[in-house]
Amino acid sequence: MKKKFIIGQISDTHFVNKNEKLFDKFDTYTRFVKTIETCNELLEIPDFYIISGDLIHDNESFYKEFFKLCNNLKRPVYAMMGNHDKRNALKKYVKSDLIDSHGYINYTISNYPLEIICLDTAIENNIEGTIFETSIKWLEEKLAKSRNKPVIIFMHHPPIEIGSVLFDHINCNNGDEFIKLISKYQNVKEVIFGHVHCFFDKIINGIKFSSCPSASIQYPIDAKSDKNIQLDTNGYVKIIDYDQGEISTKHVNINN
Ligand SMILES: [Fe+2]
Repeated sequence: MKKKFIIGQISDTHFVNKNEKLFDKFDTYTRFVKTIETCNELLEIPDFYIISGDLIHDNESFYKEFFKLCNNLKRPVYAMMGNHDKRNALKKYVKSDLIDSHGYINYTISNYPLEIICLDTAIENNIEGTIFETSIKWLEEKLAKSRNKPVIIFMHHPPIEIGSVLFDHINCNNGDEFIKLISKYQNVKEVIFGHVHCFFDKIINGIKFSSCPSASIQYPIDAKSDKNIQLDTNGYVKIIDYDQGEISTKHVNINN
């Protein structure tokens, strides 16, 4: 088993087709092309990529072009559900062993010294998230099986409040249950979520909770209301580096 490996995380691309604009304003098609170029130019190419939800923006016909572009990445891609994704349509682009027996896109990546758990938190056509009862059971089983390895969990919706007026009311609505469960396992090291389009990290009871900023647009974490928000059009890829038992992360600005 490799002692060192790298995960490239891409989140909240909100991809639309060429010549369309997100909110009539943002060219997330070109940004995704640039995201892939940035990934392919990294000095150390990640072993694989996790795209942690909101791959496309609401229209499932965008998946075709999105996954065609993903083929330009030099390493495999693991997709996750976000609130703007469509589960049945996305499942056509995801290998069947990444779908659990209840039809949720819950899976583990187990051939590394760190156990990687990707948890589906999306309630289709709803902005907030949840971990459905069957997914809680699935997670519990996976955690019980992984006691001999450090664990990192990826999810779209944050299970905790991040201090954002914009996002705290649309996070994972049973985050407390999730925290209670993972707290029983001292080998859970990190929880990384998308959804919030900003930078965030906090250590709670020895577990690091952090966000993956969007590849497309960022919202200010300290916005006072959802009116007149100044969006930041920088996009980022998160690099998670595992080396001899240590996890380190950094963010790479996507070239424009
Ligand atoms: Fe998003």
